[in-house]
Amino acid sequence: VHPPPAAAQPGVPLAPVLVPSSTFEFEESEAFADATAARIGSGYVYSRWANPTVDAFESAVADLEGADDAEAFASGMAAISSIFLGTCKSGDRIVAARQLYGGTHSLLSEVLPRFGVEAGLYDVDDYDGIAKGLAEGARLFYCETIGNPRVKVADLTTLGELADEADVPMIVDNTFASPILCRPIEHGASLVVHSATKFLGGHHDLVGGIACGSPQLLEPVRHVARELGPVLSPFDAWLALRGMATLSLRLERSSDNALAVARALAAHPRVEAVHYPALGDDPDKPLADALFGGRGGGNLGFDLTGGRDAARRFQDELRLVKRAASLGGTHTLIVHAASITHTQLNAEELEAAGISEGFCRLSVGIEEPADLIDDLTQALDATG
Ligand SMILES: Cc1ncc(COP(=O)(O)O)c(C=O)c1O
Repeated sequence: VHPPPAAAQPGVPLAPVLVPSSTFEFEESEAFADATAARIGSGYVYSRWANPTVDAFESAVADLEGADDAEAFASGMAAISSIFLGTCKSGDRIVAARQLYGGTHSLLSEVLPRFGVEAGLYDVDDYDGIAKGLAEGARLFYCETIGNPRVKVADLTTLGELADEADVPMIVDNTFASPILCRPIEHGASLVVHSATKFLGGHHDLVGGIACGSPQLLEPVRHVARELGPVLSPFDAWLALRGMATLSLRLERSSDNALAVARALAAHPRVEAVHYPALGDDPDKPLADALFGGRGGGNLGFDLTGGRDAARRFQDELRLVKRAASLGGTHTLIVHAASITHTQLNAEELEAAGISEGFCRLSVGIEEPADLIDDLTQALDATG
């Protein structure tokens, strides 16, 4: 139970250090009491409040996002719900873009209303509607840099100005873009949130989330994390830190692959439409140029002719591309949005979000692009 500690030696570890300890001992009871009273900042006490490995992950993401501070969570949804829980109270309204991850959509439309917090949803480019919604009084404005799953790009500069005029904090889910493509704080975001499960981790081996921003805005969010407990485990923070070392390489490769795949899909007769912001004729291309330096990220969407049935047959023919939820990792994954990621939306809401019956979302990994194109083409050809 009490092995003797190894003798200390000079030399600082180069790789991130995993500290799984849930609790920390103090030499003196007074220092222990002081650190406990402060909870954070005066020494590590208990890993629900703060942990060195989790802190290292928070610093890394804050640094990449250009934020002063960050708080890690057990999942992207834990981060998003803690922002709402920490910032809103009964009677508040949230103005949000309609192009959202399904879990965030149901949080806003079903869960929060039970606590007296209502949300008004607008198309992300309905600037008049958003300005009006904000002027009517809103606690927060919420959107995704690249909306899940239709990869519609938010004009963060315009939206940031609208939020600023109304004096409403803009919260941006930057999961699809990652800080390599875009840093929403530079466009007026007050808080940036990520599902670290996706590009930050990047290897399909962890579930995590993080919120970044100013210490003042993060304070109530951090309070939810530390008191209610949806915190990131040190091991997942360590995996995320390890993944982040290759974030820019993976993002570049995924973006290049996605563009090559998008072009191949657009040329196939079974594909009705391809949605990818870096494609030459995509309506969001000018925004992708302005916000992401011309890159489009690793995700794209496409509509298959033949609707849900064709989408099922096509996916069953795939050999290299995996039928699996999640995105932003090394492997290329495909989902049929209406039956996997956006089941929370009814037919009307699916239509409003631009999700057709044949819509598939492809998260393009870092494989050889020719192998991906071969696999997708053979599956399309075999769909008949
Ligand atoms: C844009 C976006 N935000 C948030 C989430 C939720 O993240 P998590 O699954 O880590 O809770 C997801 C999950 O797919 C997502 O795509």
